[in-house]
Amino acid sequence: MTANTINLLDLDRELQNQTPQKILKHAISQFDKIAISFSGAEDVALIEMAVGLRRDIPIFCLDTGRLHAETYRFIEKVRKHYGVRIEVLSPNGDAVSKLVAEKGLFSFYEDDHKECCGIRKIEPLRKKLLTLDAWITGQRKDQSPTRAEIPVIQDDKLFARANEKLTKFNPLANWSSKEVWDYIRMCEAPYNELHDKGYISIGCEPCTRPVGPGQHEREGRWWWEEATKKECGLHADNQ
Ligand code: ADX
Ligand code: SF4
Repeated sequence: MTANTINLLDLDRELQNQTPQKILKHAISQFDKIAISFSGAEDVALIEMAVGLRRDIPIFCLDTGRLHAETYRFIEKVRKHYGVRIEVLSPNGDAVSKLVAEKGLFSFYEDDHKECCGIRKIEPLRKKLLTLDAWITGQRKDQSPTRAEIPVIQDDKLFARANEKLTKFNPLANWSSKEVWDYIRMCEAPYNELHDKGYISIGCEPCTRPVGPGQHEREGRWWWEEATKKECGLHADNQ
């Protein structure tokens, strides 16, 4: 373990007891080249908190080309509501065309979601993260068994540039879904209309479905795969 990793572990221990707002404040004060990775779901809470700290906080969204119409509408709503710029990142057109030509539009139901997510999410994310020193996600511990141990601040070795550091912040890590929703309602923040239609965790349209009473939110994502495989690679450090 390097000295830097140890420092980060200490800092994580300290930040674990802080509110998401304090964690964001720390992140934004430490890094200029930082951005929020916004999925178009309840992680809008991060934007609500961040614009009060830095009006021009950079925000990006990975447009896989397969999001719900409701999510596209929501991204626009957020842009207008907060007066922020949201960078919408598209996948490489040649890579998408090749996948679709070879395997069709729904290959993920037959093999698994890794290849499609790799092209539509991971590569665009990798390219974006090459321009940053830190990124902010809306991951929470209660979202999935694979996220039960996520730190608030971590060294992102997966997407870092060669010989450079990339820091990843998960300010909502210790909030429950209820706390996020209480916050959204208290602030009267806009939210994705899919949440009123039974959706909890929202990803791409073909890989997301609403969940019934008592079902865990993650059961609506890649439902044909095992619970421990429900990471698309954006947060592969959880596996
Ligand atoms: S995923 O890995 O399973 O798709 P999830 O939907 O739980 O992730 O979202 C967790 C966090 O990952 C979000 O709060 C956001 O920071 C980031 N994220 C997920 N999907 C996207 C996306 N399409 N664009 C940008 N960030 C995303
Ligand atoms: Fe492709 Fe589904 Fe992954 Fe979206 S979630 S990138 S449609 S496999």
